[in-house]
Amino acid sequence: MEVSEKEISVEDEAEDKNVFKDCSKIAFYRRQKQQLSKKSTTYQALLDSVTTGKDSTRFQMINEATKVPLLAEVFGIEGNIFRLKITEETPLKPRYEVPDVLTSKPSTVRLISCSGDTGSLILANGKGDLRCHITANPFKVDLMCKEEVVMSINSLGQLYFEHLQTPLKQRTTREKEENASIDTSQENQEDLGLWEEKFAEFVDVKVNGPASIGLDFSLHGFEHLYGIPQHAESHRLKNTSDEDVYRLYNLDVYGYKIHEKMGIYGSVPYLLAHKLGRTVGIFWLNSSETLVEINTEPAVKYTLTQMDPEAAKQKGSSRTDVHWMSESGIIDVFLLTGPTPSDVFKQYSSLTGTQAMPPLFSLGYHQCRWNYEDEQDVKAVDAGFDKHDIPYDVIWLDIEHTKGKRYFTWDKKRFPNPQRMQELLRNKKRKLVVISDPHIKIDPDYSVYAKAKEQGFFVKNHKGEDFEGICWPGLSSYLDFTNPKVREWYSGLFAFSVYQGSTDILYIWNDMNEPSVFRGPEKTMQKNAIHHGNWEHRELHNIYGFYQQKATAEGLIQRSKGKERPFVLTRSFFAGSQKYGAVWTGDNRAEWSYLKISIPMLLTLSITGISFCGADVGGFIGNPEAELLVRWYQAGAYQPFFRGHATINSKRREPWLFGKEHTRLIREAIRERYALLPYWYSLFYRAHMTSEPIMRPLWVEFPDELETFGMEDEYMLGSALLVHPVTEPKATVVDVFLPGSSEVWYDSKTFASWEGACTVNIPVTLDTIPVFQRGGSVVPIKRVIGKSTGWMTDSPYGLRVALSTKGSAVGELYLDDGHSFQYLHQKQFLHRKFCFCSGVLSNSCADERGHYPSKCVVEQIFVLGLKKQPSSVTTHSSDGKDQPVAFTYCARTSTLSLEKLSLNVGTDWEVHIK
Ligand code: GLC
Repeated sequence: MEVSEKEISVEDEAEDKNVFKDCSKIAFYRRQKQQLSKKSTTYQALLDSVTTGKDSTRFQMINEATKVPLLAEVFGIEGNIFRLKITEETPLKPRYEVPDVLTSKPSTVRLISCSGDTGSLILANGKGDLRCHITANPFKVDLMCKEEVVMSINSLGQLYFEHLQTPLKQRTTREKEENASIDTSQENQEDLGLWEEKFAEFVDVKVNGPASIGLDFSLHGFEHLYGIPQHAESHRLKNTSDEDVYRLYNLDVYGYKIHEKMGIYGSVPYLLAHKLGRTVGIFWLNSSETLVEINTEPAVKYTLTQMDPEAAKQKGSSRTDVHWMSESGIIDVFLLTGPTPSDVFKQYSSLTGTQAMPPLFSLGYHQCRWNYEDEQDVKAVDAGFDKHDIPYDVIWLDIEHTKGKRYFTWDKKRFPNPQRMQELLRNKKRKLVVISDPHIKIDPDYSVYAKAKEQGFFVKNHKGEDFEGICWPGLSSYLDFTNPKVREWYSGLFAFSVYQGSTDILYIWNDMNEPSVFRGPEKTMQKNAIHHGNWEHRELHNIYGFYQQKATAEGLIQRSKGKERPFVLTRSFFAGSQKYGAVWTGDNRAEWSYLKISIPMLLTLSITGISFCGADVGGFIGNPEAELLVRWYQAGAYQPFFRGHATINSKRREPWLFGKEHTRLIREAIRERYALLPYWYSLFYRAHMTSEPIMRPLWVEFPDELETFGMEDEYMLGSALLVHPVTEPKATVVDVFLPGSSEVWYDSKTFASWEGACTVNIPVTLDTIPVFQRGGSVVPIKRVIGKSTGWMTDSPYGLRVALSTKGSAVGELYLDDGHSFQYLHQKQFLHRKFCFCSGVLSNSCADERGHYPSKCVVEQIFVLGLKKQPSSVTTHSSDGKDQPVAFTYCARTSTLSLEKLSLNVGTDWEVHIK
């Protein structure tokens, strides 16, 4: 039986506190807190055990109480990264080490060991400017950059390692004696959830017993930390309390509450810390349930008279302690030493990969709803966009398009001829996205189910039978995407010959892949379910969704014989998911506070590698009033993944259903998105090639300006545009902070300008999207907006040249065919550089390797901030021809406008302004 609408509304109540755990209900957290509060166990590094191999330096560590030896391994990794691994030297069984996240085996650099004093070991990179100072007893590591201690590890003594043990019942007398230090009384066992943990009506039986790990990191001089998505929380990480820690555990939380640290759909166990002069990162590679405590000790103020200035600086500096705890696995942590934000982005992407280069259409506007009912509905909505002259690229079909929630099938009553429908969309140069979830309806007549069953491709329960749980289709089994064979088979399901009714304009949406299991503990899978390789679900819970998106993306590539870029949206994700497509923030609500929090949520995803991210425009749950919907479109137009979506029982809300004026405002917002597509696409190329996030918190662009460190109501889009979406009802003014004392900023519409380092009050009407262009930048735009990106290939460009205080500007444009891998394999692309200097604007090649025939011309150039009216403007083309150009100059805004130009975008030329 399918899950009925009535049951869906029961699921609506899932936010109920009793459905999800708070940290007091998490046994490994309680155990670690209890043990650590006793301060009874310290670790010692046995420095006489040090061995140096080709890649790493190893030594033993011993816990004074348990005497169980651990093995520590320190690696130097290219790009100024250290890696520290700690695991049991001889575990009873192997412990899980997260595979498939690192893009390749990190290239190591040899660390030179310099002798410390007897109780310490110093490992340094070749230059000696990066060092790990390891103190033996108690074990502690100081990470030093030049003479500065940037980070200390285990300085609070929170290293915690539960070694695997034989279950109580199976222990020999000798083992019992050996484990005497562990309290094994029945009562305490239950309370601490060592072998069994109860939550609501669920009992988690742990065959491997307790296996949790933990470690602390002290960040010296740092007060600003960011990262560890996904939480509906502010961008800057907050201090935690014992009752309220950041939880990384992928969960399906319908209408999640905001300003909470509970886990929602995805997890990236990676955080960044920033202070004046340095940015660092900590990447904790563990896919089991993880908790993070943060505690900032603010700077203590000492007067200079009390001690000498150097000592005052040391003593008085602030510190933030970060305590990571995971339920199982090993300690495997990467320390990214920066020093700049962009160095940290590069370091992280050297480990986990960069953002996949998306097909151009996916940067357009997406129209989704649960559900577009049938082919007629799709046709009508599609026509509605044309009728109202609103561009859009993709229409989406949710679960109801299938035959009884059997993915890869069609409900033939609603969609009798899916190919015909796709041809209609193709003719409009538009695409279709359909949903494909990881749960597979138990139905022997459903071929996907039957084949997976036959081949043993489902996750198993602890008894070794196929795991069964309830999701949209009713009773279902779940594909075990952690198995490479399952992924290969699943990828094959997207082949055109296998996926009946699919065409090459159909792309995929992976949902419910936390995985969501309606009546399971916390609405997910039992932790003792069994995956490929006999690993328990608890080991890899947070990476399940990552694997589904990987298999889907690979499937889409394969169906095109390796030629076409895939587009896959996923709800659940892990570190590295950026390689496979886009992520959205799940089931938000149609409320102003959710519009507002979308900004910090997306900024956090962006700086942790996931640039292609967005939030449901309009808010998924509920019915937005027109003003909120308009404001959401305006904000969404400036966020990387731009999709309107609404839940099944919400009122229809296509952009033209709110009256003429609101339709106009939404049209304008979407058209602004399309006008900026050349800039967006160039930013994606940069994210893909050089790891720069697309949406950037202000601190990333202005790392030396303290005021920016906590800002999250505005952000930079690339390095050229500052966006401050209106997120308050009935706003008449917004306070916009324009950073940089040597900067100048231009209103992107009125061209009014302001000097930086000030807050300006910008009057707003419902028409206004406050966007400012930074002086010193050139932004390419499209002058003619089509019905979709496909209609705009040849449309002419405009350049917005915003001069810096010094009268110069730079910018770039990347273009290619917008859909294939030819940019990679055949170097079929154009990468152009625009430079304005001493009155000359030049277009030159930024990458000689690239070639792409483009008929496009630059038709219009605006130069903002040109102080005096020129006497002449001429264009110089590469074949030596000079031509005078008609121009207009507006003295009030200091803007020069050149219209009706015809300068080929792909050839070298100059415009001379005298
Ligand atoms: C989940 C998704 C939502 C989707 C719905 C039905 O709630 O988050 O976007 O519409 O499932 O598939």
